[in-house]
Amino acid sequence: MAPAMPPPVKLSESDLVEKISKGDEIPANFILPVEHRPEVCLTRSSDEIPVVDLAGLDGDKREEVLSVIHKACLEWGFFQVVNHGVDPSVQQYMKDQVEEFLALPVHERAPGGIRKGVASQGYGTGYVKPDTGARDWRDYFLLRTYPESMRDYETWPNRDSFRDAISKYTLEMKKLAEKLLECLSINLGLAPNALKDALGELHQDLLINHYPPCPNPSVAIGANKHTDLGGVTCLWQLDDVVGLQVLKDGEWYPVHPKPGAYIINVADMVEVASNGIYKSIQHRAVVNPAKRRVSIAAFYDLHPDAVVKPIPELVSEERPACPAVRFGDHAMKLAIETDKVGLKVVN
Ligand code: OGA
Ligand code: NI
Repeated sequence: MAPAMPPPVKLSESDLVEKISKGDEIPANFILPVEHRPEVCLTRSSDEIPVVDLAGLDGDKREEVLSVIHKACLEWGFFQVVNHGVDPSVQQYMKDQVEEFLALPVHERAPGGIRKGVASQGYGTGYVKPDTGARDWRDYFLLRTYPESMRDYETWPNRDSFRDAISKYTLEMKKLAEKLLECLSINLGLAPNALKDALGELHQDLLINHYPPCPNPSVAIGANKHTDLGGVTCLWQLDDVVGLQVLKDGEWYPVHPKPGAYIINVADMVEVASNGIYKSIQHRAVVNPAKRRVSIAAFYDLHPDAVVKPIPELVSEERPACPAVRFGDHAMKLAIETDKVGLKVVN
């Protein structure tokens, strides 16, 4: 008889981060049940995931660029953008700061202590996922960046350059997301500011994902499958390691990031505001046996009291209105589902 799998050992959050950073073994807390194990090397081509040159938006190619974005939103919910207008010196500054941060010993990465719970900001590891019972093989830094009053500097590394880079970078991400929301609004036949207005005040979150090398990537997952909660997500990968996979027609497609590009996806609140014309698509990240991977996701999240409903012009007899959603309830759903199955949310 095969020996039963050992039960997860009770480890503190910082022990868990240390374990995955060392990467010489996979503690049981991270091992997925067989039915949830990912196919790591997909043979399917991701060349079809559209790459959009945003430089064309300002010239006579505008209509063409908008139509490529529209098709990408309808068919994939994902696309990459190049010539996106994000200041390359700000990207480099951010990258340098993140590399410096990740070079710190684990206990120095979290000045306010390891992050507690799903929603709070700071540095730590992921929580136990309700559908798999396992944790993600990643450590991450979650920062609330807009409105500026949300910035909890106590939990940020105490270096002026880190804070300065975050400020400059998140402003660029705010501008990029606003530009994309404008394109999506126009593509839906609406006024350019329609989606921005439907989402209300921006509550931007920045997530610095660090996926250390994993000794056996086929039994663990970097980011379990999910959709993003807010309006749109702008994700930048610091290295060229393939890890992100996107679900389309029941199959996972790997994303091969173009250097310097942003991977953009429609998130849940744009699905609601667009009355389901644009869908928020499931995605996940697999890990690599030899290489670390770092991604920085900027989420266009909302005020917890914001109630998003389908934009009236997009409701018709053939397309009745989908239910309105209060963002805070939607964001809590994760935590509640985790709680329901008796797993710890707050460590
Ligand atoms: C996320 C996410 C994927 C990645 O942070 O929401 O989907 O490639 N990340 O890191
Ligand atoms: Ni995501």
